[in-house]
Amino acid sequence: MVMKILWCYLAILLAVAFGSVQGWNNVTYDGRSLIIDHKHRILFSGSIHYPRSTPEMWPSLIAKAKKGGIDVIQTYVFWNLHEPIQGQFDFSGRRDLVKFIKEIQKKGLYVTLRIGPFIESEWTYGGLPLWLSHIPGIVLRSDNEPFKFHMQDFTTKIVDMMKLNNLYASQGGPIILSQIENEYSMVERAFHEKGPSYVNWAVEMAVKTQTGVPWIMCKQDDAPDPAINTCNGKRCGKTFQGPNSPNKPSLWTENWTSFYQAFGDEPPHRSAEDIAYNVALFVAKNGSYVNYYMYHGGTNFDRTASAFVTTAYYDESALDEYGLVRQPLWGHLKKLHAAIRSCSHTLLYETQTTFSLGQGQEAYVFGMNSTKDQCAAFLENNDLSEATIQFRNVTYKLPPKSISILPRCKKVVFNTANVSTKNDTRVRKSRLNFNSSEKWKVYEEAIPNYDNTSLKANTLLNQIITTNDTSDYLWYTLSILASSSIQSVLSVYSRGHVLHAFVNGVLVGSAHGSKKIPEFEMESNVTFINGINKISLLSATVGMPDSGAYLERKVAGLRRVKVNGTNLTDQSWGYQVGLLGEILQIYTDIGSKKVQWKSLGSSPKPLTWYQATFDAPKGNSPVALNLGSMGKGEAWINGQSIGRYWVSFHTPSGIPSQQWYHIPRSLLKHSGNLLVLFEEETGNPLGITLDTVHYIRSTITPHQ
Ligand SMILES: *[C@@H]1O[C@H](CO)[C@@H](O)[C@H](O)[C@H]1NC(C)=O
Ligand SMILES: *[C@@H]1O[C@H](CO)[C@@H](O)[C@H](O)[C@H]1NC(C)=O
Ligand SMILES: *[C@@H]1O[C@H](CO)[C@@H](O)[C@H](O)[C@H]1NC(C)=O
Ligand SMILES: *[C@@H]1O[C@H](CO)[C@@H](O)[C@H](O)[C@H]1NC(C)=O
Ligand SMILES: *[C@@H]1O[C@H](CO)[C@@H](O)[C@H](O)[C@H]1NC(C)=O
Ligand SMILES: *[C@@H]1O[C@H](CO)[C@@H](O)[C@H](O)[C@H]1NC(C)=O
Ligand SMILES: *[C@@H]1O[C@H](CO)[C@@H](O)[C@H](O)[C@H]1NC(C)=O
Ligand SMILES: *[C@@H]1O[C@H](CO)[C@@H](O)[C@H](O)[C@H]1NC(C)=O
Ligand SMILES: *[C@@H]1O[C@H](CO)[C@@H](O)[C@H](O)[C@H]1NC(C)=O
Ligand SMILES: *[C@@H]1O[C@H](CO)[C@@H](O)[C@H](O)[C@H]1NC(C)=O
Ligand SMILES: *[C@@H]1O[C@H](CO)[C@@H](O)[C@H](O)[C@H]1NC(C)=O
Ligand SMILES: *[C@@H]1O[C@H](CO)[C@@H](O)[C@H](O)[C@H]1NC(C)=O
Repeated sequence: MVMKILWCYLAILLAVAFGSVQGWNNVTYDGRSLIIDHKHRILFSGSIHYPRSTPEMWPSLIAKAKKGGIDVIQTYVFWNLHEPIQGQFDFSGRRDLVKFIKEIQKKGLYVTLRIGPFIESEWTYGGLPLWLSHIPGIVLRSDNEPFKFHMQDFTTKIVDMMKLNNLYASQGGPIILSQIENEYSMVERAFHEKGPSYVNWAVEMAVKTQTGVPWIMCKQDDAPDPAINTCNGKRCGKTFQGPNSPNKPSLWTENWTSFYQAFGDEPPHRSAEDIAYNVALFVAKNGSYVNYYMYHGGTNFDRTASAFVTTAYYDESALDEYGLVRQPLWGHLKKLHAAIRSCSHTLLYETQTTFSLGQGQEAYVFGMNSTKDQCAAFLENNDLSEATIQFRNVTYKLPPKSISILPRCKKVVFNTANVSTKNDTRVRKSRLNFNSSEKWKVYEEAIPNYDNTSLKANTLLNQIITTNDTSDYLWYTLSILASSSIQSVLSVYSRGHVLHAFVNGVLVGSAHGSKKIPEFEMESNVTFINGINKISLLSATVGMPDSGAYLERKVAGLRRVKVNGTNLTDQSWGYQVGLLGEILQIYTDIGSKKVQWKSLGSSPKPLTWYQATFDAPKGNSPVALNLGSMGKGEAWINGQSIGRYWVSFHTPSGIPSQQWYHIPRSLLKHSGNLLVLFEEETGNPLGITLDTVHYIRSTITPHQ
């Protein structure tokens, strides 16, 4: 049934569109695998997201992936990056999707294009532009006319752009798969009957765009034909229920190499052994496409990270944040890919049989009784201790928690737990100090009060809708009259994420939430003066949410303010969206001249802008800013934001979640680079250093 629809569709495509085009690849699928140019394929894929690195980094990232045995690069498409303002598109620089795909094509790899356009991906608002939420009556990701209209519009625009550049495999290009929606089953029930009808609509809409390559839906067990349901997770070899039709292959679109990190989290770690084990198991169970999420994580530049997510993204992947090869992971996976590739013909064309070799040991054998002498075996030991087993009259010792791969059913060429790749250690060398006060100039952000704000409301506004994605910051200001100098308790309840409270220009308290619990309450003893008292509350978000149903209803910012128990929520509040320094763009060369910078004083004040210039460190090693002495804020290099920093938010073990912040080499000039920081707290800029990043061979060799 599936194939019938597909063939029919391809026949039309053939006749109408590309019938005479030379060199095109017919991408189809059956129950075993994707079929590219009439050949079944086992494919290893790696996620690299184009806006999380720079165009200058792309060629080397892709080359390193290819060398590591990767066949396919998987990327999302980031709608809110391309259309931040409705109707105004940007595909320049890091946003140049076509250039990225052509770069992959140049290296001879394939592409899986995950259009979404909802993508989650720890990306602010899950990739959806915030302006969507201002559209009357809109319900995001549901069977809702306004949403479907805009989703179709953007999807079609991207598909057309790919077609125009001949980027689909059906046109001779590298794109072999496209994805519509993203892990929708996680929210589907919240939309009741509008959920399933939306899924059906999405697939129908996608298929109608006629890409000539299959569509996939990840984590959507009931993906309608002809879309292929695929698995996301850490252990798809164990957990995936399989394709929802015997005519669809078993594909794993997100094999998590580690996990993303939120501020306050310890660095995640997933061992090379564990990753290799699960990949081998998935292939042993007939899987034919595995994607590493991420192969290169990269950097969440600007304000693109979602709520509380760190600026470094999946730094623990095979290629680290800077694009350097991380060993032993990269090398171990390369060997795994080579072992599987050496028997891929057997895996694809011989029958698979599973049988037990003992308690906790399984054999997955392809071509057990093959007359052509084609046989390949995966011997799994799920036990925590070594097992001795017999396979085809030969005795094998299987290491604990491991899978041995025997491409000819005879000799073990790879064992997932035997990491023979040397372990490297990342080190950073300090190349430049900013420890003399002459290097710095400062500008103190003005604290607004009720009288000098232009936006007024008799309620506490929702920060997400009010800032409209133009800034992390929203000032809530209020004037209150006191009849004498008295002590009071100021209490503020916020739905997230960070608060700095000022009374008459003096900081009286700060508080923040976390990824798990964004909301918080702050209480502070304050002394009012006789007369008018100016309350100025700076609320900061650390990225918008990226998941959940009804994203358009999400709330952040202050929800309740009390003084001595008196509810001030529906007083007249004055608002300022963003900081003055942001509005004037004082982090740029031109903008910095619009304000009066002063020399560095002796004690740092909160809400201060810092400026310094520096020369690029010699060589080609990646560069990172060590912000260990700072608190929280954002950093710019030559006018480009390299992301938020938050060093004062420590992990349970007492260290910053992220201390180093990547400065891509391409942002740097030879000399006279402008560094600007906005610091919310009282960090010390004199402690900042500029470091280069290197790997050294570890003296400890891993156990065999
Ligand atoms: C594309 O592949 C399918 C399945 O392998 C096949 O039936 C169809 O004829 C092919 N189309 C072309 C144009 O080669
Ligand atoms: C929000 O921003 C978008 C894009 O810049 C703009 O079109 C829209 O008018 C803004 N809405 C409000 C309420 O400010
Ligand atoms: C793939 O999943 C397996 C287990 O499911 C996991 O061990 C491995 O780390 C994952 N690999 C990647 C690259 O995500
Ligand atoms: C793998 O494919 C074989 C047919 O080659 C089938 O008998 C077996 O049940 C499949 N195994 C799994 C885990 O799906
Ligand atoms: C392979 O041959 C053995 C012995 O003849 C038989 O028991 C087994 O069922 C066969 N397996 C397959 C997958 O054909
Ligand atoms: C294993 O040994 C038995 C008895 O010696 C023999 O009959 C059988 O063919 C052997 N099997 C293989 C796969 O070599
Ligand atoms: C581990 O792998 C290395 C290199 O492939 C090999 O020399 C060694 O014998 C293996 N060790 C075990 C216990 O299999
Ligand atoms: C590599 O070695 C370092 C220390 O030498 C150790 O901390 C780290 O856990 C090792 N990594 C792996 C993957 O074995
Ligand atoms: C700045 O750092 C350099 C290198 O660590 C050191 O030699 C110098 O004494 C420091 N200067 C001050 C003022 O601390
Ligand atoms: C707040 O309560 C304290 C203690 O009860 C009291 O001393 C103070 O006068 C009160 N402040 C106001 C503004 O009412
Ligand atoms: C406020 O002052 C009271 C009384 O002096 C004290 O008990 C309380 O702990 C203080 N609260 C805060 C948040 O400092
Ligand atoms: C404070 O006032 C607002 C607006 O009248 C109301 O919605 C809220 O429930 C009140 N909160 C408390 C704690 O009384």
